[in-house]
Amino acid sequence: MTSRDPVRASAGDRPALLDLLTRADLTLSGLDDPAVRLWVLREGDGTVVGSTGYELSGDGRHALVRSVAVADRLRGKGTGLRLAEWALARAADEGAGRAWLFSRRSGPFWRRLGFSAADRDDLATALAGTHQVELFTRTGQLDREVAWSRLLPGARGVRTFTWADHTAVVELWRATGVEVLPEGELRATLDHGPGLLLVATDTSDTSDTTDTTGAVVGTVLGTFDGRRGWIHRLVVHPDHRRRGLADALVDEVEARLAAVGAPRTNLLVLPGNPGGLRFWEHRGYLACPDVLLTRPVDG
Ligand SMILES: CC(C)(COP(=O)(O)OP(=O)(O)OC[C@H]1O[C@@H](n2cnc3c(N)ncnc32)[C@H](O)[C@@H]1OP(=O)(O)O)[C@@H](O)C(=O)NCCC(=O)NCCS
Repeated sequence: MTSRDPVRASAGDRPALLDLLTRADLTLSGLDDPAVRLWVLREGDGTVVGSTGYELSGDGRHALVRSVAVADRLRGKGTGLRLAEWALARAADEGAGRAWLFSRRSGPFWRRLGFSAADRDDLATALAGTHQVELFTRTGQLDREVAWSRLLPGARGVRTFTWADHTAVVELWRATGVEVLPEGELRATLDHGPGLLLVATDTSDTSDTTDTTGAVVGTVLGTFDGRRGWIHRLVVHPDHRRRGLADALVDEVEARLAAVGAPRTNLLVLPGNPGGLRFWEHRGYLACPDVLLTRPVDG
């Protein structure tokens, strides 16, 4: 697998892109429109082996992910997840708050990235004017399509922790009774799993829901032990609960854990925390019968 990042597709990539998308049975409409953002993944010798992209709605708030394809011989190695993540991150960078897509066959793949089934008419309304929606509406294919959607991190003020947030995060953990991770331990954890501590910021006092400069009001920390993903330190400030912030944090950390290769996510909830338990039940997490055993490593 290539470890390079995708690069913006150029006119010279068009034949290879057409070939890749045709083989993957994906839409070819709008490939020449510069409003359609497209990237290609190249091997060292320049061969195009993957593609990814999206179109934005007129107001820029919605992104229609499209053209995510991987050459047959590179499939099954996580390249598709990486390409899809790339498009989602770029769309979020551009200010989109929600991502949508059509997929009849790859639902499980998109679920791994935090997508859930959506109403195709809602998609067509949010993204009227995009090439795919116009094509599918014109040809009647829209009625046979399956729509998926997910919030993008910036929409709920969810973003990756930076060290400038450290004081605010420690204050939030202290104020909510969450055990504060010592700084050295946190640094070691993030060195091992960069990008897996997320913060939710308060965007309620601005009409721009993609603003991410507000106060830190929630956190979640993911870790990957090479076999399983683990979730820790999920907390939302009491003044901001029951607004979907924990859901937005967990959507994103689950997607990131899936992208680094975790096939399952575990977590621990204290028995005296019924609210926490109900939240995880709402997410589809099940209690398992294992008994946790622990012992400090001798000094
Ligand atoms: C658990 C916690 C993170 C939930 O944060 P939140 O932002 O309020 O959660 P959300 O708004 O995303 O909740 C989504 C759904 O989860 C369920 N849920 C969340 N908190 C719940 C509670 N206290 N009781 C029952 N159901 C709850 C509901 O179905 C909710 O949807 P609804 O509000 O439409 O009914 C928050 O209460 C918290 O910080 N608690 C203290 C720390 C903690 O217990 N963390 C988890 C331990 S591992």
